[in-house]
Amino acid sequence: MRPADVADMWWRNATVYCLDVETYQDSNGDGIGDFRGLTSRIEHLASLGITCLWLMPFYASPNRDDGYDVADYYSVDPRLGTLGDFVEMMRTARHHGIRVIADLVVNHTSDQHPWFQESRSSLTSPKRDWYVWRESPPQDAPRAVIFPDQEDSLWRQDEATGQYYLHHFYRHQPDLNISNPEVRDEIARVMGFWMELGLSGFRVDAVPYLLSTADTLAAERETDPHSYMRALRSFMARRSGDAIMLGEVNVPYDDLMRFFGDGGDELDLSFDFPGMQAMYLALARQDAGPLDDALRSRPLPPRDTRWATFVRNHDELTLDQLTDDQRDEVFAAFGPEPDMQVFGRGLRRRLPGMFDGDQDRIRMVYSLLFSLPGTPVLFYGEEIGMGENLDVPGRSSVRTPMQWEPGAGGGFTTADADKLRRQMPAHPYSPDEISVADQRGDPDSLLTYMTMLISKRRDNPHFGFGDVEWLTSAQPSVLAHKAVLDGDSVIAVHHLGDGPVEVTLMPGLEPGTQLRDELVSGAGVAEPIEVAEDGTLTVSLGRYGSCWLRS
Ligand code: GLC
Ligand code: CA
Repeated sequence: MRPADVADMWWRNATVYCLDVETYQDSNGDGIGDFRGLTSRIEHLASLGITCLWLMPFYASPNRDDGYDVADYYSVDPRLGTLGDFVEMMRTARHHGIRVIADLVVNHTSDQHPWFQESRSSLTSPKRDWYVWRESPPQDAPRAVIFPDQEDSLWRQDEATGQYYLHHFYRHQPDLNISNPEVRDEIARVMGFWMELGLSGFRVDAVPYLLSTADTLAAERETDPHSYMRALRSFMARRSGDAIMLGEVNVPYDDLMRFFGDGGDELDLSFDFPGMQAMYLALARQDAGPLDDALRSRPLPPRDTRWATFVRNHDELTLDQLTDDQRDEVFAAFGPEPDMQVFGRGLRRRLPGMFDGDQDRIRMVYSLLFSLPGTPVLFYGEEIGMGENLDVPGRSSVRTPMQWEPGAGGGFTTADADKLRRQMPAHPYSPDEISVADQRGDPDSLLTYMTMLISKRRDNPHFGFGDVEWLTSAQPSVLAHKAVLDGDSVIAVHHLGDGPVEVTLMPGLEPGTQLRDELVSGAGVAEPIEVAEDGTLTVSLGRYGSCWLRS
């Protein structure tokens, strides 16, 4: 692999970090995170080794869905700062070699968006056709709603004209009509605007709904929605050759592949939701089987496109692709209380809470994340093992402020803690117990471990660029794979069980090859090990142990 190729396809060896400006760092003591605060924390991201920052929506918004309800695509929400502050943050990130992408939320707008206000005003409004209006909800309208706690229909009658509008998400999020060329032009304009300000691409929100034509008129259905995706992708490439689209597409693998496009001309990256869900089932069972099966069946994305892998994101930990019984197993293991669950399909916990703070187990999962083929995506706070606060309603339980220092405001804000929109987690995950300041420089901290993982991932481009082979292991609790790049191999072994294990693998390496563990982890392999005469490799690991073996 030529170094120049690695740079050209930066997203294949990137470590992405998602944060919400609102909960990251408050600079002026009003209790709300802001761009100036984020700018002051770019150093943290740089020393962690992050190469791509993903900003959750920061656009002007009534904030009824944490900014996923946009009221103006061309401005920064005044609570978070100004466009000037945004540009200074971009400049600082660039100085540290960090690219920035942002959420592109164009399946819907806020109902407060002037476009919708104009659209709803009359049947003949010039913006009428910017949204999807019907005289009555279509007979064959899908019944499945996304937020069953608050909605029971995808259609809502609007008083102004008596017609119904489509909203896949909350009723205050009317769907844009992407079959309207004016809407398409405007979406491109929005993308172009932020790219001029330096964005390296977008995390595209709710892609299947954005492209869904099930609710549109027959005539509208005639254009292939994927041709729209291709058009957006090529528009972006014309504006900037190395910008990417990272798509949120939570569907089974077979359906998912369509979103990469035939020759890889749609999404550059797509979150691996099926693999993530299989991983939790495997963790719950302490049996690598479900994950091994999922990864073996996982299709190879075309050309330079990639899976984006993750352990947690800002939403509920969705388990919607598991069977009811499987989901119940994961619930029983990681979130048995009804209050830990949400929408009947997911958990509103972070990983440390699910594992009762078990450090060996937490570290093994991140070692796994960084060794899987695909681009790892972290959610802020994972690097220090932040917990959730179940007193914060719904999905927001995992969106509490970043914990920088001990103390009531956690170094996030100087405002009185009771002014915070979301309270910090209590014991054992309070800022007094979990913070960046406390872990920085401590050789045994999770932060140090994560920093090491990220740098090892970069030193071993095998995982980002190589060919991967899933190795057979006779121990059900062990997942083993080999990544080969330019004839050189790294073997990753992960043990999902809570006792010590010895496993014999056939790594396909020359007898006598000496292998060292790239990871500095208590439960890993301390001394170099050797491939035996018969080609086998025997690896001993402690509880929840892991290693990345390289000659
Ligand atoms: C995506 C986001 C989620 C949001 C929804 C509606 O699923 O991840 O947070 O509520 O889209 O925009
Ligand atoms: Ca502020």
